[in-house]
Amino acid sequence: MSQAHPFFIYRNDIMHVEAVSLTEIAATYGTPCYVYSHAALTAAYDNYRRVLQGALNQAALICYAVKANSNLAILNLFARLGAGFDIVSGGELSRVLAAGGDPAKIVFSGVGKSSAEITQALQAGIHCFNVESASELERIDRIAGQLGLKAPISLRVNPDVDPKTHPYISTGLKSNKFGVSFEEALPLYRRARQLPHLSIRGIDCHIGSQLLDPSPATEAAEKILGLVDMLAAEGIVLEHIDLGGGMGIRYRDEDVPSVDDYLAPILALLKGRREKLIIEPGRSLVGNAGLLLSRVEITKQGSEKNFAVVDAAMNDLMRPALYDAWHDIVPVHSHSAPSKNVDTLVWEIVGPICETGDFLGRQRPLALQENDLLAILSAGAYGMTMSSNYNSRPRAAEVMVDGHRSHLIRQREQISALYAGESLLPSAEAEAKDAAQ
Ligand code: LLP
Repeated sequence: MSQAHPFFIYRNDIMHVEAVSLTEIAATYGTPCYVYSHAALTAAYDNYRRVLQGALNQAALICYAVKANSNLAILNLFARLGAGFDIVSGGELSRVLAAGGDPAKIVFSGVGKSSAEITQALQAGIHCFNVESASELERIDRIAGQLGLKAPISLRVNPDVDPKTHPYISTGLKSNKFGVSFEEALPLYRRARQLPHLSIRGIDCHIGSQLLDPSPATEAAEKILGLVDMLAAEGIVLEHIDLGGGMGIRYRDEDVPSVDDYLAPILALLKGRREKLIIEPGRSLVGNAGLLLSRVEITKQGSEKNFAVVDAAMNDLMRPALYDAWHDIVPVHSHSAPSKNVDTLVWEIVGPICETGDFLGRQRPLALQENDLLAILSAGAYGMTMSSNYNSRPRAAEVMVDGHRSHLIRQREQISALYAGESLLPSAEAEAKDAAQ
């Protein structure tokens, strides 16, 4: 297996997550099932911590971007490791608090925070709102005033740099909906200073996701620092600089810089400065720490294509359908297993959903047969969190492996839960009674 997955290893021709075999996981918890490695998650976090340690005047704060994977056990693990959290909704705030996260280490991003969400965050005592518009600034001030509180704020500034990533996940261009423009930023900070219920804490930017080249982020940081200095000249002194998330991971054969190499030019720019650095990594903390375990239900060999219909689908892992994203797919029993007298064919790995877009991998040379287990790799980020119940499919189970032990961290959804909140129309008798009254 590639270096990207040192915690997923073949042992006796069977793939293991740490010390637990995926055959055992499938037998215990069923499929489809997301499986995460405790050691891989910890290693990814520790790697950031190591790179940041001692690099700056003040310890940096790593705010894990909850949207990448919001399972309580994962949030709890990061909270125990000392992480803060980047949230984008009241739902994510509730999860972080339920997982034992420290509200004082939460930053709240997002272009459309509702009044209820702002109230919830103010009452929880979060570290900072990353404000994305003039209108939001006024709204937060008004709500903080009503609650008799002062709201800590940063402006999310759009530095207008091209992150060179998939258009759906680039956020730092002028044409994107995110943040306030560079030109707008100064007047808005002046306005924020006048508003009585705001306390200006910092500045924020996030230019996109799955970034493999450090130069756009470095360019953005340079622009942001220029703004910080202009603000200081006006007496608006910031406590922190939040440079967002976005660092890419290896899905296939991409050249991925190490965290050291990615952050080095940014840390060089920040060296000697007094502001605290905040970063918001999501994918790079969890992406390669998880896989989606699935079983081949049906094989269909056709004249043009061979289809392996597996029990996971686009509702479980949407990235291939949505972004044409690549996830490595490997057999749980390796090809070298002596019992396997199966030819390698080129397969379309598809789910059972009634959509042509329901594929997990295309053109994969694999030796497989019905009932085999497959591991869909690099599925720890934006897998479960983007899942749905399309075709009334219950959401997959989630399991965390820690050494020799495995923990069920989310039960497979019960079908009855899918429609538990729905109701039938009133009966004809009830309608008639109503009309008679
Ligand atoms: N901070 C903010 C404000 C963000 O919008 C995001 C991601 C992050 C941090 C974390 O970025 P990361 O380190 O994970 O790249 N569903 C897409 C990714 C969407 C990313 C959205 N924002 C995918 O599956 O590739």
